[in-house]
Amino acid sequence: MIDWKTLPRPIVALAPMADMTDLPFCLICKQLGAPVVFREMVSSEAVVRGSVKTIEMARFDERERPIIQQIFGSDPKIMSEAAKIVEDKFHPDGIDINMGCPAYKIVSNFDGSALMKDPPRAAEIVKAVREAVSVPVSVKTRLGWSKDTDILDFVRYLEDAGASLITIHGRTKEQGYAGHANWDRVGEARLRTSLPVIVNGDITSYATAQDAMARAHADGVMLGRGALGNPWIFEEILGSPRTVSLEERVAVVREHAQLHLAHYGDRGMVTFRKHLACYFKKELKQEYPHIDWADIRTQLVRVNTIEELEAILLRAR
Ligand SMILES: Cc1cc2nc3c(=O)[nH]c(=O)nc-3n(C[C@H](O)[C@H](O)[C@H](O)COP(=O)(O)O)c2cc1C
Repeated sequence: MIDWKTLPRPIVALAPMADMTDLPFCLICKQLGAPVVFREMVSSEAVVRGSVKTIEMARFDERERPIIQQIFGSDPKIMSEAAKIVEDKFHPDGIDINMGCPAYKIVSNFDGSALMKDPPRAAEIVKAVREAVSVPVSVKTRLGWSKDTDILDFVRYLEDAGASLITIHGRTKEQGYAGHANWDRVGEARLRTSLPVIVNGDITSYATAQDAMARAHADGVMLGRGALGNPWIFEEILGSPRTVSLEERVAVVREHAQLHLAHYGDRGMVTFRKHLACYFKKELKQEYPHIDWADIRTQLVRVNTIEELEAILLRAR
């Protein structure tokens, strides 16, 4: 079980990302120094309905601990039942509630960031989940639905309901991913609560992590897109930046691919392509101009088997 109050500062966490922060990627991040990982959201309704596919998404490897499982939904009873099912079956170190997702298919059911429009309901969910499980219950949210000041009252509701940690992505739902994360506003929210706060949004380096934490008076940072294709970022944020050689990059890609295939079966290479696109970004051209990266990337997005991947990786040196 995680104790957010005593966890060493700064807290540095991998963000929950649908279709990305699954068992293989969380394990890779953990092995490369991520102190805490948040697993991608799972639907509370599907868990309660008994969907094996959804429930299995919450299965993890002991080496991933401390691991936080995120759930989404808007019915306090269903959310609490789902949290209990996940806790009883897998024993994660914490349960996180998604109150930040802006996707249409989520907010149209009043899930995710839509809960910011109804703070009493959001509080009811936290309370119900808290009563159902023995591990700490945290919330990941945004600055607001349309107003970036909604968060200032919202954190009070979450704290009073018994949340143990709040992660705030410094954008509103209406902003989606546009513009810049407003870490100063996260800092204003931080001053309204005695709970630990993690700042999230646009943190991609040691410098941005330091800046975000200072502006938000935060207890830590959460990294999403900055960790995709760059699981070495946790070491950097924790103060040990180092150059990642091409050999090391290829070795980690190989290990990640093997874990991914072991988890999803032989057809898993197709769903691994999205990670390959992240590991081999255009910027590598500056570092290794002698390699034909455009050609390698074209092949990587079509790869079907581990043998094909191995053959392409041999050319990346
Ligand atoms: C592909 C993708 C999937 C995401 N899925 C989730 C999710 O399941 N739950 C959640 O709370 N946020 C989700 N997010 C939002 C991220 O956790 C994070 O808040 C956002 O990307 C901003 O942080 P960043 O700038 O470090 O990426 C997702 C983001 C991306 C890019």
